[in-house]
Amino acid sequence: MTGNVGITRLWPDPVAAALDDPALIALYPRVERPHLRMNFVASIDGAVELDGHSAGLSSAPDKRVFGLLRMVCDALLVGAGTLRHEAYRALKLDERRRAWRREHGLAEYPTLVVVSRALNLDPSSAAFADAPVRPVVVTAERAEAPPGLADVADLVRRGDEQVDLAAGLAELHRRGHRQLLSEGGPHLFGSLTAAGLVDEVCLTVAPMLTGPGAGRITAGPTTTPHGMSLRHVLAAGDELLLRYARS
Ligand SMILES: NC(=O)c1ccc[n+]([C@@H]2O[C@H](COP(=O)([O-])OP(=O)(O)OC[C@H]3O[C@@H](n4cnc5c(N)ncnc54)[C@H](OP(=O)(O)O)[C@@H]3O)[C@@H](O)[C@H]2O)c1
Repeated sequence: MTGNVGITRLWPDPVAAALDDPALIALYPRVERPHLRMNFVASIDGAVELDGHSAGLSSAPDKRVFGLLRMVCDALLVGAGTLRHEAYRALKLDERRRAWRREHGLAEYPTLVVVSRALNLDPSSAAFADAPVRPVVVTAERAEAPPGLADVADLVRRGDEQVDLAAGLAELHRRGHRQLLSEGGPHLFGSLTAAGLVDEVCLTVAPMLTGPGAGRITAGPTTTPHGMSLRHVLAAGDELLLRYARS
């Protein structure tokens, strides 16, 4: 496993020296137009989890980029399955990162956005109850909200029976959340891919073979394959951090 080692750039323009935070942030730029960036970690043989959680695949360099990507986004989009399974806490940033956001004209905290059709969400869970800014739940018109959820989150209803993700994202853009980061999970990624909404994929390849059993980073409806362009390859010991964007 890769420990607390520096991150270097292999491509383009190899840089042998370890990248500091400003150099790393510059490699994950915000863009002018609304933009959806996905961030995942997978094993070499494609597993999305180890012993049920993504933490088993992650490492210090992966966590470092994970944290920086949160710092530079307007809103963090996550599927209800990942929120529940990974027991998401409130989306808080330390003072250094909040200062960076203020200096760059961003809201002090990114907004947590949960995508759910079933609305099997606990309003008293930390992700909602301790949130520094009111989270948003993107759901369908016919979804029945549990008591108390509307007290702790804005419900954005788009689509009648099923969630209309394109309309949901358009409403997030309208609210000023133009740079969206999604930490998954696989079903949300599959739906976003099917709807043609994914602009960028950041993928950490954890240097592990975990064998069969685990799912992939995507799940759900089948889609027409389409190419992506490689933007950079970073390395941290045996681990690779790849960034692909819409061609
Ligand atoms: N390796 C990684 O980087 C990584 C990242 C994230 C997650 N994971 C792993 O992935 C696993 C969880 O997988 P998952 O597929 O269940 O995660 P998920 O996509 O976050 O959750 C699925 C749930 O999210 C909601 N959802 C997703 N797409 C939707 C859509 N288009 N419309 C309405 N609701 C939608 C639904 O919630 P409702 O049931 O409430 O309707 C659905 O049941 C865990 O093992 C986790 O550790 C790994």
